[in-house]
Amino acid sequence: MKLLFVGDVVGGVGRRTLAALLPALRERHEPDFVVVNGENAAGGVGITEKTAEDIFEAGAHAITLGNHAYRHTEAYSYLDREERIVRPANYPMGSPGKGVTVVESGDLALGVVNLSGTVFLDAARSPFAEADAALASLRGRATHVLVDMHAEATSEKVAMGWHLDGRVSACLGTHTHIPTADARVLPGGTAYCTDVGMTGPRGGVIGVRREQSLERFLTMTNVRYEVADEDPWLNAVLVEAGSDGRATDITQILAPGPSA
Ligand SMILES: [Fe+2]
Ligand SMILES: [Fe+2]
Repeated sequence: MKLLFVGDVVGGVGRRTLAALLPALRERHEPDFVVVNGENAAGGVGITEKTAEDIFEAGAHAITLGNHAYRHTEAYSYLDREERIVRPANYPMGSPGKGVTVVESGDLALGVVNLSGTVFLDAARSPFAEADAALASLRGRATHVLVDMHAEATSEKVAMGWHLDGRVSACLGTHTHIPTADARVLPGGTAYCTDVGMTGPRGGVIGVRREQSLERFLTMTNVRYEVADEDPWLNAVLVEAGSDGRATDITQILAPGPSA
């Protein structure tokens, strides 16, 4: 099983970068599954039906989200009815959308779980207990499992990697928009990376126009943020796993996109 997991797609520039680079990446690596974090797809914050459809059209089998899942209220009914999109599983029960789904490709069935960290982020329940519940709900329904651990603190993400080692094919971090250099297969057979990074403009500050971010840091005034467009990159990882669900390899992919 080969899985290409793409870090947070930021705004139109991120969606265009994904659409531009994904065909060649799929041709080269032939992944069975492409999963994309889309929590910043719509104008840099949140997702809408249209922006999600852009990501599916680019070649994604599933979309994961994060702390910006509920930014656009008009997307709530879409989150409820679209089976291929997940928001953090440890958000309140009954809130829009779902936290666990299964997508299929040939004989393979990939369970996709989205979790939110609780250090510097809000969630209704512990991501650790929620991960256990998600795996129980997937028993017998998935040949492989991917967990997108959407969290701020590196410690919480590393801890989740160890918590899930040997029980999922991949535990991959998102949210900080900065790729970390620690991608590896843990001893139990779980592919792990603290943060995959973002698919968006490196010329800004984690996606925001740098002069606007700097003005806020320098003056502490309320500055309106817009998505930067300079120097777009795609950040992803490619995971390979055997039929037993255990990962054998994880490779980081950091690719420059077409200039804006
Ligand atoms: Fe993000
Ligand atoms: Fe986030």
